[in-house]
Amino acid sequence: MRIAVGLGKQSGEERLERQGVSRRDFMKFCTAVAVTMGMGPAFADDVAAALTGRRPNVVYLHTAECTGCSEALLRMYKPYIDSLILDTISLDYQETIMAAAGHAAEEALEEAVNSPQGFICMVEGAIPTGMDGKYGYVGGKTMYDICKDILPKSKLNLAIGTCACYGGIQAAKPNPTEAVGVGEAYADMGVKVINIAGCPPNPINMVGTIVAYLNGIDIKLDELGRPLMFYGQTVHDRCERRKHFDAGEFAPSFNSEEARKGWCLYDLGCKGPQTYNNCPAVLFNQTNWPVGAGSPCIGCSEPGFWDDMTPFYKN
Ligand code: SF4
Ligand code: F3S
Repeated sequence: MRIAVGLGKQSGEERLERQGVSRRDFMKFCTAVAVTMGMGPAFADDVAAALTGRRPNVVYLHTAECTGCSEALLRMYKPYIDSLILDTISLDYQETIMAAAGHAAEEALEEAVNSPQGFICMVEGAIPTGMDGKYGYVGGKTMYDICKDILPKSKLNLAIGTCACYGGIQAAKPNPTEAVGVGEAYADMGVKVINIAGCPPNPINMVGTIVAYLNGIDIKLDELGRPLMFYGQTVHDRCERRKHFDAGEFAPSFNSEEARKGWCLYDLGCKGPQTYNNCPAVLFNQTNWPVGAGSPCIGCSEPGFWDDMTPFYKN
């Protein structure tokens, strides 16, 4: 059983056009991905080729999470994620959006995992390890056991969102379920995981990582397992309010003229200097990002941010 149904000999671009995604929008998106990857606009054709070539099989597992990362993906604006992602990857199993349920869903997962072409595995959510994993079950199996079975068989493992990367809010003190990130949960089995951090992560960073993998690019990671091409600089490094930080101009309150004029939000709790992500450059939905909208960065792509970055706001 497939969620994204194959469309015979149609090319990837024909499939997208059928879904109402114009070539112009598609190439604009590919250019954004190429630039975000640090490869320059000329790499857009390679991005397009990767996204319209043979669709990689993807298994997307949900563990302990709020489904906010999936929501961020599904709310992605132009081109719409259902048109782009669901038509350019073969999403064989995704509990939030798949029509199948019960035994049919389990069969879909079994079929995808045993596909001769192999598959990419994405995990959204932390892994509860306390009480032998009994805090989280799907279909009668613990989340811990499901991932333990599937991750070693995958060609590429992506942890989607800060919960999957480092435990997120599930791992906040006192962490009653002993939740940990995917990489930590299976490190002793030698399972390798790339962390696409953020609460939620930017979908472009996820797509860019898949494109890099499909193009055989060596994905260099920081010491926290995040691709350096997306997480190599702090939010502060690229923030549009940075000139005010450097000039010592700090907004005194959220509802101040200075905040509206774009002064720095450091005194209001901004964690941009301690946080590695490309939000100011990439934006969400190619529209805006937290600091651009007047909120401090709360450090959402760092491990332990629920404990270490609080209070998020000062006023
Ligand atoms: Fe840095 Fe935050 Fe100020 Fe931007 S608003 S310059 S990220 S401290
Ligand atoms: Fe998160 Fe800070 Fe970006 S809160 S979304 S890393 S601006």
